[in-house]
Amino acid sequence: MQIDPRIWVLLPFLVSTIDALRILVLFPVNAKSHSILGQGVVTHLLKAGHEVVHITSYPRVKKEANLTEIDVGYIGQPPKHLAEKMDQFKIKNLVGKGNIADSTFFLQFLYDYNKRFLEDEKIVKLLSDPKEHYDVVVLEWFFSELVAGIAPLFQCPLVWVATTEAHAHVLRVIDEIPNPAYSVDLFSTSRPPLSFTERVTSLWGIVKKMVLGSLMFEPDQRDIYNNVFPPIAAKRGVTVPPYDEAIYNASLLLINSHPSIGTPFRLPQNAKYIAGYHVDSQPQPLPKELQKLMDESKQGVIYFSMGSNLKSVEMSDEMKKSLLDVFSKLKETVIWKFEEDMEKPLNVHFVKWAPQQSILAHPNCKLFITHGGQLSTTEAIHYGIPVIGVPVLGDQHINMKSVVEKGFGVKLDLAEDLADNLKGALYEVLHNPSYKIKAKEISQIFHDRTMAPGDELVFWIEHVVKTQGALHLRSPALHVPLYQKLFLDLLACIVIALVTLYYLLCFLLKKIRSKKPVKESKKKVK
Ligand SMILES: *[C@@H]1O[C@H](CO)[C@@H](O)[C@H](O)[C@H]1NC(C)=O
Repeated sequence: MQIDPRIWVLLPFLVSTIDALRILVLFPVNAKSHSILGQGVVTHLLKAGHEVVHITSYPRVKKEANLTEIDVGYIGQPPKHLAEKMDQFKIKNLVGKGNIADSTFFLQFLYDYNKRFLEDEKIVKLLSDPKEHYDVVVLEWFFSELVAGIAPLFQCPLVWVATTEAHAHVLRVIDEIPNPAYSVDLFSTSRPPLSFTERVTSLWGIVKKMVLGSLMFEPDQRDIYNNVFPPIAAKRGVTVPPYDEAIYNASLLLINSHPSIGTPFRLPQNAKYIAGYHVDSQPQPLPKELQKLMDESKQGVIYFSMGSNLKSVEMSDEMKKSLLDVFSKLKETVIWKFEEDMEKPLNVHFVKWAPQQSILAHPNCKLFITHGGQLSTTEAIHYGIPVIGVPVLGDQHINMKSVVEKGFGVKLDLAEDLADNLKGALYEVLHNPSYKIKAKEISQIFHDRTMAPGDELVFWIEHVVKTQGALHLRSPALHVPLYQKLFLDLLACIVIALVTLYYLLCFLLKKIRSKKPVKESKKKVK
């Protein structure tokens, strides 16, 4: 029998394909934007033919083949002692405040969440079931590494997904703390090159978070880890490594960013930029009414949304009224994601829920007024839409700083006189063509890649499984202690050598001096 010679061409491809994998995807954070990113990961993995178990707070409306969803929305309800503090996250209470996410309360809140999550009956049951097996676990990294203990339970590689730009806190788990002289924190308001004060602030941020933060929270994290994972591991007939080994053992970090969005960080080989993977390759059709409205808005559409967590309706009445007043004087149509109804000018349309990607994709969309969250910024860049940013908290400040420096938007402070400043910003961005040109330019950079971000995500996750944890990609910096990086041991050797030399010289000098008078006295005798 003759073998078709074409088989030799095909062979490498046959070898490198892998069977469908069974993957656990964990994006439990009870926030719509995070769930969109989780669902994006799941969509690409399903499309590649894999089987997924997804732990999420926002399950899909329709059931899908190869997908099991575990709804944990109820865990996200903050407990009483934190619930009272949640009011501070309403827009009207954030006016004039600094970056509220840059606080230990924020970390406390997340640690608390992780504890409740890992102690939840449904989760413990799933993790304990010896019949459950996964080839890889894909976990959202969100200011806690506690869930890293899940990977050793299934004896499989761990992939982190960071939902924001890279930063010291997350890079330290696969590589090292980047140099604060040119790598700024996610909650910073400056971008490199840094001035002297900015550099000092950046360094202090690292000390505060990494040193004081770990002193404050790590003992608790360790306790939770040691209480939760070993008993589950025992039920599965495996053992889990100590906390410090587990949290520094990820195979891959997928970062929901791209140099066109933020700062081009220097990344280790197992960190990959995948921003844009959550954007539909073909935008979903708009609801009929919105489609008609946008088609007919020949003067263009301004889309205004403060995201899914911040509710416009929670602005003060004066702020709402003054904004509507500014909008009423525009010839453009304004689509505002506003959660209630109130009296409004004819050219303003409220939508309780906005199909954001489809609105930005519409050719009549001229401008996006946004809080500057990572998803909104990414989508604006994807579709090349200029922005006016009103950053409120978290990474929104640094994102908007970046947008302003890249030249495709204007940043405004969240203040009671927002409307006054918005008037000027609207005039500037709508009449100066440079914003639109820059937005298109950045968009082009964003799209010019070797692979579509969704394919890249799948490629690297499969690569990790194929290569049993991709040990070859791991950063050699990960396990080098700080004193070795700073060559403090060498410094100590040099200091010891110098001190020894000094004393040796002193000793010798003394010896010589003490001999001299003897010689002289001998001379005198002669
Ligand atoms: C670390 O990850 C690799 C690859 O997944 C795995 O083989 C190894 O057992 C893990 N080590 C620990 C201590 O969990």
